[in-house]
Amino acid sequence: MKILFATSEAHPLAKTGGLADVSGALPAALRQIGADVRVLLPGYPSVLDRVKRLTRIFNIDLPVHGETALLCGVMPDSEVPLYIIEHAGYYGREGLYQDKAGKDWPDNAQRFGLLSQFAAWLAGPQTPLDFHPDVLHCNDWQTGLAPAYLHFGKPPRTPSIFTVHNLAYQGIFPQDTFDLLGLPPESFSMHGVEYFGKLSFLKAGLFYATRLTTVSPTYAREIQTEAFGMGMQGLLYARKDVLHGILNGIDTVEWNPSRDKYLDATYSADNLAGKALDKLAIQDELGLERNPNAPLLGMVSRLTLQKGSDVVIETAPRLVELGAQIVVLGNGDAALETAWQNLAAAHQGKIAVHIGYNEGLSHRIEAGSDLFLMPSRFEPCGLNQMYSLRYGTPPVVHNVGGLADTVVHASLGNLSQGTATGFVVDVLDATTLFETIRRAFVLYKHKLAWRQLVRTGMAQDFSWENSAREYLDVYQTAIKA
Ligand code: ADP
Ligand code: GLC
Repeated sequence: MKILFATSEAHPLAKTGGLADVSGALPAALRQIGADVRVLLPGYPSVLDRVKRLTRIFNIDLPVHGETALLCGVMPDSEVPLYIIEHAGYYGREGLYQDKAGKDWPDNAQRFGLLSQFAAWLAGPQTPLDFHPDVLHCNDWQTGLAPAYLHFGKPPRTPSIFTVHNLAYQGIFPQDTFDLLGLPPESFSMHGVEYFGKLSFLKAGLFYATRLTTVSPTYAREIQTEAFGMGMQGLLYARKDVLHGILNGIDTVEWNPSRDKYLDATYSADNLAGKALDKLAIQDELGLERNPNAPLLGMVSRLTLQKGSDVVIETAPRLVELGAQIVVLGNGDAALETAWQNLAAAHQGKIAVHIGYNEGLSHRIEAGSDLFLMPSRFEPCGLNQMYSLRYGTPPVVHNVGGLADTVVHASLGNLSQGTATGFVVDVLDATTLFETIRRAFVLYKHKLAWRQLVRTGMAQDFSWENSAREYLDVYQTAIKA
C-alpha cells in the first residue's frame, strides 16, 4: 500500500498542536506495519533546518504561485520519507499560520492552496515522481482543497481520505481567492467548496474526499449534531456512512516516564519514587512552595476557549484555598494569557504560569503533577490526557469527544472494579469542576486507592499500532470505492 500523507505540521519539524504529533507518529506506525507512507509538508524554516538528507528534486514556475521547488529528505528519528515544498515567499517566515501578534497570514489561502495542489498532483496520475500513491491522506483544512483538485483532475482518480482533527478551524476565505486557485467555477456552489458565499477549504475536504475520518469515535458522532458540528453537521450527517472515528494513539517512545530525557527523575508504575522527585523539581523550577503533600494540578494547552481554561481560572482561587497548587503552560488568546498571569501574581507560590511553548516543560508538568486538568468544551481526541495517564497523573476531563473515549471516571463502582483512570465531569461549569476536583483530593489522601487509580491509568495501551491498522482498513475501503 502506497500512501501520500499531506499535512501542514509534523513533529519534530513544525508544531502548533496535536496535528503535528499525529503527523509525526501515524506515518511511522503505518510504515511499521508494512505500508509505504511518505509525508508532504511545507518547507518552513524549522523544517528546512531539521530534515535529514535534504535533496532537491525539481524547480517549477507555477501560474499564480511562481517559483516553487520540491525537495525530499527524511524525518529525524523515524526516517519516514518526506516531500517538502520550498517556496520562500509563502513558507519562509516564523509562524505556521499566524504572525507573532496572533493574526492570520493574509496569504494563507495561497500558502495552503499550494500545499493542497501539490498533494493532489503528487498523488494523481500526472505525478512527476516514480512514487505512485494508492491513496492520498489529507489532514484538516490546510489540505482540504486536495480532494477537490483530485476530483476535477485527470482520471484515474486517486481515492482520498480527509481527516478532521478539529472542525473549529475551517480555512474560510473571500470568493476572490477562489478565482486564484484554479478550481472550476461549478465547484463554487453549495454542493462544492462554497460556504455562505465564501470559499471553505474544510468543506472542500468534507465534500470531495472519498472517505472521511475523525480522531475519536465520540467526536465522529458529535459532529453530526448542531452542538458540535460548527455549521458542517448537515454535510457530515449526509456523509455519515463514509465517516469513521479512529482514536489517535500516542508516541510511546517520546512519552515514556521511564526513559524521558526531559525529567529530573524517571519512574515506572512499579516504582513511583521518581515521580515524587519530579514534583519537587517542578515546584522548584516554577517557584512554587516546595511541598510534597499539596495536590499539584497541571495544565498544558493552547489557551483558547476550546480548552476550558477560563473555567479553571474561575475555579482556581477556591482550589488554592483547599491547599492545591496549580501550574499552567500554554499560549494563545491574549485575554486568557493575561488572566492566568494575573492569577499567578495574586497567588505567588501557589499558582505558576508559563506563557509560551516549551516541549521539555510540558513533559516535566505531566510528570510532576498529581492531577492533569483538561476540561475542554469540545475535544476531537486530545493527546495530553493520554500523556498524563501514561505519566501516572490522573486527568480531570469533560465528557466529550476523545476525552470521553479515553478516561474512565473514578465512580465508586469503577474504583471497586479497578477500571477507573481519572475524573469526568458531565457538565462544564465552575461549580461542577470544583466539586469534582474536591472529591479527587479526598481520594488523593487515600494513598492505596490513589496508587491503584494511577497504576490503572499507566497500564492503558494507547500505542499507535491498533489505530494504524484501522487507517489501513479505511484506505482499503476507499480504494474499493
Ligand atoms: P490540540 O491539538 O487541540 O492543541 P492535543 O491535546 O491533541 O490538543 O495536542 C496538543 C499537543 O501540543 C500536545 O502534544 C501538547 O503537549 C502540546 N502543547 C500544547 N501547548 C503547548 C505548550 N505551550 N508547550 C508545549 N507543548 C504544548
Ligand atoms: C486537534 C484537536 C485535538 C486532537 C489533535 C490531533 O488539534 O483539537 O483534540 O488530538 O487535533 O488529532
